[in-house]
Amino acid sequence: MGVPKETAAGERRVALVPEVVRKLVQAEHEVTVESGAGLQAGAADDAYTAAGATIGDPFAAEVIVKVAPPSDEEAAKLGPGTILISFLNPLGNPEGLARLKGTALAMEMIPRISRAQSMDALSSQATVSGYKAVLIAADQMDRFFPMFMTAAGTVPPAQVLVLGAGVAGLQAIATARRLGAVVTAFDIRSAVKEQIQSLGARFFEVDGIGDAEAAGGYARELTPEEQQIQREALSVQMARSDVIITTALVPGRPAPKLIPADAVANMKRGSVIVDLAAEAGGNAEVARPGETYTTDNGVIVAAPLNVPSSMAEHASALYSRNVLSLIELGFDFDDEVIKGACVVRDGKVVEG
Ligand code: NAI
Repeated sequence: MGVPKETAAGERRVALVPEVVRKLVQAEHEVTVESGAGLQAGAADDAYTAAGATIGDPFAAEVIVKVAPPSDEEAAKLGPGTILISFLNPLGNPEGLARLKGTALAMEMIPRISRAQSMDALSSQATVSGYKAVLIAADQMDRFFPMFMTAAGTVPPAQVLVLGAGVAGLQAIATARRLGAVVTAFDIRSAVKEQIQSLGARFFEVDGIGDAEAAGGYARELTPEEQQIQREALSVQMARSDVIITTALVPGRPAPKLIPADAVANMKRGSVIVDLAAEAGGNAEVARPGETYTTDNGVIVAAPLNVPSSMAEHASALYSRNVLSLIELGFDFDDEVIKGACVVRDGKVVEG
């Protein structure tokens, strides 16, 4: 197995951490790690050698494990006999698959069935994003999250609105609650209502939108009429929120625009929006992917990209365990998990 140093701009994660390398070596795999691959995730070369890896050329291995989709140069180094395991963005960048000569397993295509939960890297990385989004908001805001009753007076708790309560949204709710905020959350899949409530948040009901759960537990795209109903219903709640965290995504589609510009204009000065859907264009109309800025009316809009990379150590540790569980299936291409994840087989793009 080979572990390259990630080359994408701003990518600090590593695909396998030493702890997982040790397990692979115990299972009689040979692991070659590129020098410096784990440095930004807290793992120096000597930690890898202590775990039984060799420092060398990772592309000489049979199985190459990466985090970010390969660059052109990296793709060119993957021979016909290799198996690549990585995030590959097959829906967003299908052309990227066509240049792969060997076989490729896309981490984001692992079926979200209970047997494959330990391999679910979308979930593990979304957990990091949801947690970090709350800390970004808390850091940007000049107000407290918890209620304080002090000799110098009482401070009201922050009002937090979470839009989209999938894996990242639920983690954002839990983190904001731990910090003492009052949390309201909304999702178009009614199945999440109980999960939101069990975390101590209020579920925001919107009349006029049917349950929008589609295949695989994901959301479908709302009709333009439903989108309008949603924006109007949420406008009052948005205006009274100190923090809005958005995580709404529809697989393979641009992120739904849940926060129109006029809703931002109605928000209080000093309030914060953290838009986790920035990679897919953002949920806020005014979001500038990759930037944090303040609007004319004093609302801070953060649209960070690749949030898991900002917590590279634990994000890498979780990702590595996801990869380990996948490897433990033994590359049985009849297995439904491997079949689901396999987007390129012997140089041919697998039509999904
Ligand atoms: P995601 O990242 O694709 O979307 C995030 C959330 O945005 C989803 O909850 C979606 O319903 C919501 N959303 C989409 N459009 C919206 C709109 N217009 N307004 C408000 N919310 C909107 O989803 P994620 O977090 O990756 O997972 C979603 C679901 O996938 C889970 O809740 C679950 O049902 C399923 N899943 C299953 C797993 C398993 O069984 N192994 C593991 C993880 C997820």
